[in-house]
Amino acid sequence: MKINLKLKDSSERLQSQLAPKEKLPFGKLRTDHMFVADYIDNEWKNAHVIPYSDFSIAPGAIVLHYAQAIFEGAKAFMHPDNEIYTFRVDKNAERLNISADCLCMPNIPVDFQIEAIHTLIDVDRLWFPLQEGASLYIRPFMFSVDDSLGVHPGAKYKFAVILSPSGPYYPDGFSKPIRLLITKKFHRATPGGTGYAKAAGNYAASLRAGEFAKKFGANQVLYLDTTNTYIEEAGAMNHYHITADGTVVIPEFTDTILKSITSLSIIELANELGLNVIQKRIKIDEFINDVKAGKIVEAGGFGTAAVISPVGEYVFEDGTSLTVGNGQIGPISKKIYEYYTGLQYGKIKDKKGWLKKVERKHA
Ligand code: PLP
Ligand code: COI
Repeated sequence: MKINLKLKDSSERLQSQLAPKEKLPFGKLRTDHMFVADYIDNEWKNAHVIPYSDFSIAPGAIVLHYAQAIFEGAKAFMHPDNEIYTFRVDKNAERLNISADCLCMPNIPVDFQIEAIHTLIDVDRLWFPLQEGASLYIRPFMFSVDDSLGVHPGAKYKFAVILSPSGPYYPDGFSKPIRLLITKKFHRATPGGTGYAKAAGNYAASLRAGEFAKKFGANQVLYLDTTNTYIEEAGAMNHYHITADGTVVIPEFTDTILKSITSLSIIELANELGLNVIQKRIKIDEFINDVKAGKIVEAGGFGTAAVISPVGEYVFEDGTSLTVGNGQIGPISKKIYEYYTGLQYGKIKDKKGWLKKVERKHA
């Protein structure tokens, strides 16, 4: 892999490291470099770490017209030993290939993706945000670059990785519960479609619903399936609820729900957490009745960016609302959050080998 180093002005870097965590936004800052590789003649080549810079792309590039683009979201954490560790990026790399299959794009070897991520983080390790609760958000993505207006898969692709020193996704972080809008007006994904993939087009299609949610003071929409019967997920996270007997319930993965690595991790951590974690189809009517009856006492979202985001209240288009429990962050959500982030930040022993140290090779 070729590495072309160039350091930018350090003022942005200082901002990322010194700003109090409330001021460090999610996804806005960039580091000095990016990773890029090209898919040409059926193989990945030109793997490079280069200064963060614009792409040059043909106006007729397939991605610009037909959204043949996919991405991932992962994180790296600074541990008490002052070393940087990535969290389960092998799972992100595997899912990028599932998304690639869904959009007729080439696979990228998992080891190649991990090497790209680790090399880039190593090169830009000075950018690591040091405030409590901050992390380095990792964004790998792939898009088609063929200059062609026919609707067909491309033959040429770019794979890139960029980094963003980030604070919490929701500005208040874990300290304040979020609100979700329950609506039958918008749907995120249709059966047989691209809902299970991290396809750029899914997010373009969710923007209108997101703006609609804001009108009701909600952070996101809680999407239902296209028959408006079952809970699916929110725009950028899976959904969970917790019943009065302490069971954590996550909607069963279907082809309209993204298989969240956070949800999968909470399922795999059930023993350590001392919790019963199950997945099943959840009828929205039963969910609403159970919240009203006090049978569901906590709820929220699971996601890399969202981490564990408790929901205090669901709102409806008619202006009514539904408070979960007492509307505050519940003890089980807090327990999951503390365990999960404790593991990510290296304060709790990683028995599963989910955290991989970024070796010092280039910096
Ligand atoms: N669902 C959607 C639609 C998302 O965009 C995300 C974010 O990545 C998630 C769920 C959570 O997935 P993960 O935990 O792998 O980040
Ligand atoms: C993530 O959690 O990593 C996401 O991709 C969600 C969102 C920022 C699109």
